[in-house]
Amino acid sequence: MRSDLSGSEKAARVQRMFSRIAPRYDLMNRLMTAGQDVRWRKEIIRLARLQPGARLLDLGAGTGDIAREALRQQPECLSVAADFTLGMMLAGQPRNLRGLVWCAADALNLPYADATFDAVVSGFLLRNVADLPRAIAEQYRVLKPGGRWVALDTTPPPQKSLLSPFIRFHMRQVIPLLGQIITGERDAYVYLPTSSENFLSAETLAQAVASVGFEQVTFRRHLFGVVAIHQAVKPA
Ligand SMILES: C[S@@+](CC[C@H](N)C(=O)[O-])C[C@H]1O[C@@H](n2cnc3c(N)ncnc32)[C@H](O)[C@@H]1O
Repeated sequence: MRSDLSGSEKAARVQRMFSRIAPRYDLMNRLMTAGQDVRWRKEIIRLARLQPGARLLDLGAGTGDIAREALRQQPECLSVAADFTLGMMLAGQPRNLRGLVWCAADALNLPYADATFDAVVSGFLLRNVADLPRAIAEQYRVLKPGGRWVALDTTPPPQKSLLSPFIRFHMRQVIPLLGQIITGERDAYVYLPTSSENFLSAETLAQAVASVGFEQVTFRRHLFGVVAIHQAVKPA
């Protein structure tokens, strides 16, 4: 995706891309990560520390895997899966769980009052938004004081590791080829490594999160450093 696009052009392209790959999105995730993404989603929800009666927002929920995991770990919570691509949410419908609430929402302009949620989580959303500081600020706004924020996303691959050539080969050659075979949408899986390489480092993302007002910002890397889970707390 071109870097000179305006915010609304990028958003429209992101929506079109996810609409096209929606039917095979989950299968591609499992294959690309050798099933590790399932483990990361479990970790996100563990870090959200949901109590009975908690309200969770899974933003950029896509097909709803994280929102469903929340209900598995804490059946007494309200789990809201929000996204701005209808096709992704429709692809998640056959695996609906009781208690899961779907919502059409733009991460840059959330349709919720201040301090609505006990936890706001996301998986692979941040890299895709047209205005990252605004997306983080919106999540901060809708969190209750003391609420927990957790985000999973790719990070630029490490430059100096012995594994770097293999990681680059996997990202630049294997993933687009797999995307072509499984979804017929090679471009979407060229966008993935490109947007990952151009995204903030895990350290810089942590600074961006702290600059909005979050405290206790930490992160943990996974999959040879190409994925990170950040967490933070809104001051009580
Ligand atoms: C890579 S998918 C991630 C889906 C899911 N969270 C997961 O863990 O697999 C990114 C999702 O973010 C959504 N998204 C991107 N920008 C958004 C925005 N501004 N507002 C709401 N959703 C957005 C896309 O529609 C897409 O479903």
